[in-house]
Amino acid sequence: MKILSVVGARPNFMKIAPIISAIKSYNTGSSALSSSAGKGRIDHFLVHTGQHYDRIMSESFFQDLGIPEPDASLGVGPGTHAVQTAEILNRFEPILLNERPDMVIVVGDVNSTLACALVAAKISYDTNGKRPLIAHVEAGLRSFDRTMPEEVNRVATDHLCDLLFVTEQSGIENLKKEGIPDEKIFFVGNTMIDTLMSFREMASKSDVLKSMGLVERSNGSETITPYALLTLHRPSNVDNRETFSGILDALETISARLPVVFPAHPRTRKQMTSFHLQNNTPLASGLGVRVTEPLGYIDFLCLMSNAKLVLTDSGGIQEETTCLGVPCVTIRENTERPVTVTEGTNLICGVKPEAIVNAADRQLARPKSNSTPKFWDGRASFRIVDILLETLV
Ligand code: UD1
Repeated sequence: MKILSVVGARPNFMKIAPIISAIKSYNTGSSALSSSAGKGRIDHFLVHTGQHYDRIMSESFFQDLGIPEPDASLGVGPGTHAVQTAEILNRFEPILLNERPDMVIVVGDVNSTLACALVAAKISYDTNGKRPLIAHVEAGLRSFDRTMPEEVNRVATDHLCDLLFVTEQSGIENLKKEGIPDEKIFFVGNTMIDTLMSFREMASKSDVLKSMGLVERSNGSETITPYALLTLHRPSNVDNRETFSGILDALETISARLPVVFPAHPRTRKQMTSFHLQNNTPLASGLGVRVTEPLGYIDFLCLMSNAKLVLTDSGGIQEETTCLGVPCVTIRENTERPVTVTEGTNLICGVKPEAIVNAADRQLARPKSNSTPKFWDGRASFRIVDILLETLV
């Protein structure tokens, strides 16, 4: 049987890596899968759409996470949502017709996720309309904010797919409310957490803290300087000058309390320049806020694990900080991952400067606490491969 997986943008790589690894374990007979032994070899084919294309946004993740070279690279690059999506549609269809997999796996909520699910849902391998089954990993998450491109991608993708792999209870409820039948929904856990658990130890050996001068030596022992870690890239935060500069105002106050490490996304950097915000305090002073290039997975995981506080507008980082027990402030009006608030370490604060500072202060006073939502146990990918085999054989 043949399974084709799709990746396109940075957050996809952490979600697919453990699934590819679970398929490999199954093929070599070293798998922890319970019920699937002897169901025949899985041929796996990996497509990279090239939505993210830089070494720092893409290639370094393949290296860090041990993802095999893509079997096909579509090289779509940047563009408006319409152009990028259309390019993926156009370039993915011939690959699918040529490879004719039994199953297509899409992950997350980026433009590549929706575009490839759409091609697979409408393809016809023969005159009988035969098409692959389509599985969505990280289904059912909803922010209920249709101004987010990712929310449109989530809703549309879920309604195109045959198997919906859900990371948290809210996902099941959302899908049911939208009329998706029970038999399509599988609560398997979180493959991004599988990756985190696999690489946590390696990350603990990274020298990124030292190279950033965040380790102090005194009396022969080393202590980590308390610091906050910031990521920011959502269009709603960085494409609007007023919102972006308000967030920087909050940062000025927070960086007077503790240093802030800020690996800036390419989109964020571009907007800083076009809004002439790079000369803003605290960015220009270089004292409180250290702006760096985007980091590789291992170094970023090390920084996240040791941070006193994480400030973010990312989806995945809300989940990773919950798993690590690190207090997180989410600079957004909503989250599609409510379990990170109800069972985890996440606080949603909106985008107003005062609210961001208040939330940071509250979270800085909060002790580190570990919580593991159901099935965030490092085994989600094995559950997924088990279900794929049950379905295909
Ligand atoms: C995309 C995803 C978002 C995800 C984010 C993670 C969609 C709709 N958005 O947003 O869900 O959270 O990735 O990073 O799919 N750029 C580079 N180098 C790269 C990649 C991008 O310079 O390797 C530049 C692009 O040229 C563009 C900007 O960064 O100007 C934004 O990239 P784009 O892929 O459009 O969206 P993201 O904001 O990264």
